Amino acid sequence: MTIVEEATDAHLLRFPDGFRWGVATASYQIEGAARADGRSPSIWDTFARTPGKVFAGHTGDVACDHYHRYAEDVALMAELGIGTYRFSVAWPRIRPDGTGPVNPRGLDFYDRLVDELLARGVEPMVTLYHWDLPQVLEDRGGWTSRETALAFAGLAEAVVARLGDRVRTWTTLNEPWCSAFLGYASGAHAPGRQDPTAAFQAVHHLMLAHGLGVSALRAGGAREVSLTLNLTRVTPRNPADPHDLAAATLIDGLQNRIFLDPALRGSYPDDMRELFARFGADGVIRDGDLAAIAAPIDLLGVNYYQPALVAAQVGAPANPVYPGSEGVIHPAPDTPVTAMDWPVDPSGLGDLLVRLSVDYPGTPLIVTENGASYVDTVVDGRVSDPARIGYIEGHLRAVHDAISRGADTRGYLAWSLMDNFEWAYGYDKRFGLVYVDYATQRRVPKDSALWYRDVIRRNGL
Ligand code: FCB
Repeated sequence: MTIVEEATDAHLLRFPDGFRWGVATASYQIEGAARADGRSPSIWDTFARTPGKVFAGHTGDVACDHYHRYAEDVALMAELGIGTYRFSVAWPRIRPDGTGPVNPRGLDFYDRLVDELLARGVEPMVTLYHWDLPQVLEDRGGWTSRETALAFAGLAEAVVARLGDRVRTWTTLNEPWCSAFLGYASGAHAPGRQDPTAAFQAVHHLMLAHGLGVSALRAGGAREVSLTLNLTRVTPRNPADPHDLAAATLIDGLQNRIFLDPALRGSYPDDMRELFARFGADGVIRDGDLAAIAAPIDLLGVNYYQPALVAAQVGAPANPVYPGSEGVIHPAPDTPVTAMDWPVDPSGLGDLLVRLSVDYPGTPLIVTENGASYVDTVVDGRVSDPARIGYIEGHLRAVHDAISRGADTRGYLAWSLMDNFEWAYGYDKRFGLVYVDYATQRRVPKDSALWYRDVIRRNGL
């Protein structure tokens, strides 16, 4: 080693040995091939075709055409040194009628993908549900129905039976908060319902699906099982004001504790139990459910994008994504924002990881999504995206700091490998480390991708 290298190394912010570096995607956002090989429509196919729901009428019909270009995408990951690739499987490919026979052609795709990843030295991490519920199940009540939770266990069983010999790490659900509250309360996501009772029913059936899924995965021999939640640090505007404090406690309940407590403590918090009852949804919680939901997990996946600031204001109407939040407002924090208008504050991630390690000890953490959308343009074959680099670097520093404060955090997966279908925003918002030219399907690694490659290579900043 030369003197110069030693000097540089001394300044390196090194992550623990074995820290997992990776990227994440989701089936509906990248695969396309919406009608290929027996796939049935999902709630997102329906929603995207409903006028006014998705930006400019965009759909996931083609997306990044990853279904056909997966080998090229895996090669790109290998070039970037990606260690872990978190992707989701499309339920409508695997059990097109939701509960019935397995469609082997649907599973064949993931089989090929897993083999390709392993051949290139990239570890696969499979999420079973990232929002693309078969439409046939929604027609029978979707997540408001207990049947959907039982059907999910059948999905888990089918996937682990096929891929369990090669996939070590499994995740049941991605962000049940979004499925329940954006899907059934605000209606901003599929299936687009606006019914708070349905949203609380969905919360419980999603959590039940998670618990039953954990057991099905274990029965199928899964070695490492996890759940991914979108969690955040919730701060009262004025911590000395009891009304602001109460507002923050409520939002913390609806965003964080309503999912964390049943999964990791085996009970819903009392204040959330009251909300289930207030909205007439407590009848769906049956004896034995909470024990099933609390089936032990090996890893908690944390998706973090932005912190939450809340305050009390007399007469404020409830925010539709937080049913029961009358009198609570969400003041804009005094920080820069991304192209989504999401405030940028890495300290929120660090504090969140530390809080999780204190309030829910014993479950190792992994950041399963973090990243930012900015307006990107290709100039002379290159995409310069210093703001995204700054965002990720800041959040990585916060993760490192949280580890040194005792939060056992095992990895960081950037959202996302490449630009993709950003749900209600369609292709208008770009979160990728790799730029996608949708007209040609050409992939162009952004400067952030090249920067991230170096971070991975050094296992540090
Ligand atoms: C998360 C989703 C992911 C992506 C990012 C930006 O809520 O899990 O699919 O849309 O936000």
